[in-house]
Order: sequence, then C-alpha cells, then structure tokens
Amino acid sequence: MPVRSIDIFADVVSKFDKNCNAYVAKLVDAQTAGTLPVAIGPALRDFPGQWRSKFTVIPGDNLAKPLIVEIGCHTGHTICDMAEQSPEVLFVGVDITFKRVVQTAERARERGLKNIFVALANARGLEDLFTPGEVSGFVTFFPDPWLKKRHAHNRLYAPEFCATVRSQLSSDGFLWLKTDQKPYFDDACSFVQESGFHEVKSLPVLGDNDFSSFFLRRFELRGLPWYGRKWIKSVS
Ligand SMILES: C[S@@+](CC[C@H](N)C(=O)[O-])C[C@H]1O[C@@H](n2cnc3c(N)ncnc32)[C@H](O)[C@@H]1O
Repeated sequence: MPVRSIDIFADVVSKFDKNCNAYVAKLVDAQTAGTLPVAIGPALRDFPGQWRSKFTVIPGDNLAKPLIVEIGCHTGHTICDMAEQSPEVLFVGVDITFKRVVQTAERARERGLKNIFVALANARGLEDLFTPGEVSGFVTFFPDPWLKKRHAHNRLYAPEFCATVRSQLSSDGFLWLKTDQKPYFDDACSFVQESGFHEVKSLPVLGDNDFSSFFLRRFELRGLPWYGRKWIKSVS
C-alpha cells in the first residue's frame, strides 16, 4: 500500500499529546505562531504546488526562483550550508523525525537564513508533497540503507520513488545521492538510470560545490568509504 505522507502526519500529530513530546509541542506552537519555518500535519495540504509562495520574507520574485528539496535533512547542516551559498534559491528540508525538523528550523533561524522551510513528512509518500515539475532538484545524502532483506521495503530508493522524483522535477531538474553502502548505491544507480536520468559531473543551480553532511563527516573521520552520484532528468 502506498505511504501517504500527509495523512500519516495529520494522524501522528493529532495522536501525540503535546505535553508528552516536547518537540511536537514546539512544532505545533511554532507553526501556529509562525516563529519557525515549519510545515507539519494538516497544514501541509496547502503546500503542494504552492511551496514558492510560502517563502514570503525574501526579496525578489519567489515564483521564479529554483526550489531544491533535501530529503532526510537531519539537524540541518547541509541545507543551511546550501542556503547560505545560494540565497537566491529556495530550500525545503524534509525529515520524518519531530526533533530533527525542529533542530533544522532552529539552525536556519540562528544562521539568519530566510530561504529554508522544513516539512515533517515521510519521503516515501513524496507524491503528496510536491506537484509535477515543481522541484528543481532533490538532494538525498545518506538515506537509511535498511540493509536487512526483510526491511528492504522501507528503502527510499526504489523504482516508484525514482518515477515520482522524475515527475516532480522541472525539465532540467537534478537528483543527487550520497551513501556509504555500496550495494544500496548500485541498486539506486540502476533504478535512477532506468527511470530516465543521466549522470552529470556538475549540477544546475548548485554547481560544483561538494557539500558535506553530518554523516559524511562521521564516515570520513572513521576513514570509511562513501559513494556519490549526480543525475539530471533526461529529455524523453
Ligand atoms: C542517516 S541520516 C542522514 C542525515 C543527513 N542527510 C546526513 O547526510 O548527515 C538519515 C536521515 O533521514 C531521515 N529519514 C529516514 N527515513 C525518512 C523518510 N522516510 N522520510 C524522511 N526522512 C527520513 C532520518 O530521520 C535522518 O535524519
């Protein structure tokens, strides 16, 4: 059964007692008061197709700006670095964890970055979050590999995910993967290639900057290998 990100999170948020989980309380209060750039629960229904118009505070025509989505934004290191380098670009962080959504939004606020929004959502239900052609690029650094066979159905990179990503990308949209798991990398490369993408060395909008991440630093400190690839949507 497909995962419906919006329904799931409408449900999760309503089930949680605000007094039991400090991060749910923070998210709900911050969204209501507009003190953090977060999108959660039923409010997310207003966002697909309208993401650019939600960034009201930066100058210029937001509707003409590129929109880049980082899936699994964790505590916000990478998205903040990208947003700082490209103030003219709009960024959406997506994470499934209450605490990380709060931490990413707080990091963006602390660094004075107005071009970041953070959504609490399950990226396996991506089709509910963006509309066809809405996104300029997807960044996916170190998605959970779910190595055991019985957990494989949880993996982000699958033929359905690649097809959804392709449909949500603009004509020259990109997809960027980094992972420390070679078998996962090999499978992902096959799925992406078969979905109508081709490999590139340099990305539109982000250029050649090889952004780091919390997990990337972790692997590098331990001297562990990692694998990365950049693709652009092929013209069909
Ligand atoms: C291994 S961490 C990588 C974090 C970060 N991208 C990095 O490179 O440091 C995976 C992240 O993806 C998030 N995540 C896992 N499954 C997800 C899903 N289905 N939808 C959205 N986020 C997810 C986790 O909460 C976590 O923050």
